[in-house]
Amino acid sequence: MKKDLLSFKDWSAEQLTELLTLAKTIKSNPKAYRTALDGLSVVALFEKPSLRTRVSFDIGINKLGGHLVYLDSQSNKLAGREDVKDMGANLACWADAIVARVFAHSTLEELAESAEVPVINALCDMYHPCQAVADYLTISEHYEDISKVKLAYIGDGNNVTHSLMLVGVALGCEVIVITPKGYEVDSDIIALTEKRAAEFGGKLTLSTNIDAAIGAQVLYTDTWLSMGDDTPLANIKDTFAGYELNEALMEKTGADYVLHCQPAHRDLEISGSLIDGKQSLLFQQAENRMHGQNAILVELLAQGFEPKI
Ligand code: CP
Ligand code: NVA
Repeated sequence: MKKDLLSFKDWSAEQLTELLTLAKTIKSNPKAYRTALDGLSVVALFEKPSLRTRVSFDIGINKLGGHLVYLDSQSNKLAGREDVKDMGANLACWADAIVARVFAHSTLEELAESAEVPVINALCDMYHPCQAVADYLTISEHYEDISKVKLAYIGDGNNVTHSLMLVGVALGCEVIVITPKGYEVDSDIIALTEKRAAEFGGKLTLSTNIDAAIGAQVLYTDTWLSMGDDTPLANIKDTFAGYELNEALMEKTGADYVLHCQPAHRDLEISGSLIDGKQSLLFQQAENRMHGQNAILVELLAQGFEPKI
């Protein structure tokens, strides 16, 4: 039976740990996986812009011996031309998997239902699972026992935050989510994260007070305005002032490292000097997008593959 990756909300601690281990194995010995996707084609469908996701999937699939076909709704006017379920069924006639970045999570569900091949969420309104794999892969490269890590996410409660929560508590981390009032994460995701924390041993803390980040080893932020949100920056700037990640906050919290999924806005949600500084893991995170996604692709498309060690 085909397996999709829409959210990670049903992946166990063991499955997530195995995926991170596979990502590290592929990263350390890419040659052994050069034919993992031999003869396989992946369609990447984008309703929103992308730099990291698009390029890391394209180059990553190439490194695994597969082939990517890029479709974007800007140049192809995909939206509205036919029903999503017909698009999914058609794509599955030729492609071995569909990677999709969409506005609504329901679009991914429709694609997954109609396509007889795995569908991978490359970001939607609710989740960014591929990002979370890269994030925890990056963190696990700096801490021997990831289950002892305390991560504080500061900023807008969004798709990236949801995936960090769902994956983090399953790995045993303490995830602290600090948002301004009115920009909290989704209540259903909170309930699900708490359930997963109880099952797998992690912890979720929610706050509007930035001092809740004191003692966290890793600080994380994302844009204050996600793609598709046309709110003028001037309308929210005052609300988010005080939630910026900068050197003073690193010192106050005692954090070792800072992460940001990017695209970053220098001197808004994060100071430019922090991005460029020694505590920044932003570019390691970006590199790990490819290794994490390659592990996902091998897991979903090439389970029986024997690495050529
Ligand atoms: N982090 C991330 O998904 O970046 P892109 O939007 O550039 O793909
Ligand atoms: N929350 C951001 C993430 C971008 C990678 C957005 O959805 O635009």
